[in-house]
Amino acid sequence: MTRATRDREFSFETRDFARVRRLIHERVGISLSEAKQDMVYGRLSRRLRALHTDSFRCYLDSLEAAPDSPEWQNFVNALTTNLTAFFREPHHFDTLKSHLAGLPRGRPVTLWCAAASTGEEPYSIAMACAEHYGSMRPPVRILATDVDTEALQKAARGVYAADRIGDLDATRRKAFFLRGTGPNTGQVRVRPALSKLITYRQLNLVDRAWPVRGGVDVIFCRNVMIYFDKPTQAAILRQFHPRLVSGGLLIAGHSESYLNLPELFTPRGQTVYARVDGGAAAGVAA
Ligand SMILES: C[S@@+](CC[C@H](N)C(=O)[O-])C[C@H]1O[C@@H](n2cnc3c(N)ncnc32)[C@H](O)[C@@H]1O
Repeated sequence: MTRATRDREFSFETRDFARVRRLIHERVGISLSEAKQDMVYGRLSRRLRALHTDSFRCYLDSLEAAPDSPEWQNFVNALTTNLTAFFREPHHFDTLKSHLAGLPRGRPVTLWCAAASTGEEPYSIAMACAEHYGSMRPPVRILATDVDTEALQKAARGVYAADRIGDLDATRRKAFFLRGTGPNTGQVRVRPALSKLITYRQLNLVDRAWPVRGGVDVIFCRNVMIYFDKPTQAAILRQFHPRLVSGGLLIAGHSESYLNLPELFTPRGQTVYARVDGGAAAGVAA
């Protein structure tokens, strides 16, 4: 036993860590590596403190005894990693604009951000659309989903520390954000016209049934598949495929690659994939 382990407030045995890894994987598909033991301790200790529970074993026992307990959501929220930024991987927003330029006019465009985290990504999508159409009321609807309810609440509020938009150029900052004054100094709020384009919903990508219909033009699913194993990724891709229109795009994160399912998706640039027509015949469960 290391000194750090001995000095801990709660006992956290290797078997407790193994149990957390199994439970989070079963619930939301996240594969936590062996190296995450300290991270898990730090994040879940807050839940033990809040519940006045004195050991990880008791905490996990009570979770497993109550599959419908609201504590499951706190467990999931504590273990997700929400790292994101406005216009992260900026080339994808140029790809989005080029794609929009090629779509027929006169019908609304549907975009889906499937791991929206705290909102920076769906707002960046909305900004790119406003820029492309030269209007704060572009003909687009954006569905933004995530499994983490706390992150979604923050996203829906649309309020950020001002330094989060420090890398955006002045034109974007002015066009899309309001600066806080008085007690809100140091914060910015996304302009309501932009927020109105986005609908936030909770969605667990590893669920079998998704409350999302088809007709989606572009899916952004970035930097979340890296937490899933290959079979889980493939199951999700099979569910994305029938929801995209013919010619629709799937945009992945910088270290995510889907070359293993050529019947469903074909590469179309840097971490961008186009839907292959007819791929649904390859056993897609929609
Ligand atoms: C690292 S963030 C990526 C955020 C954003 N897409 C980006 O690229 O900046 C990963 C997000 O995936 C979400 N997530 C993890 N497992 C999920 C699941 N099973 N279903 C939906 N979202 C999930 C997390 O809650 C987190 O907000």
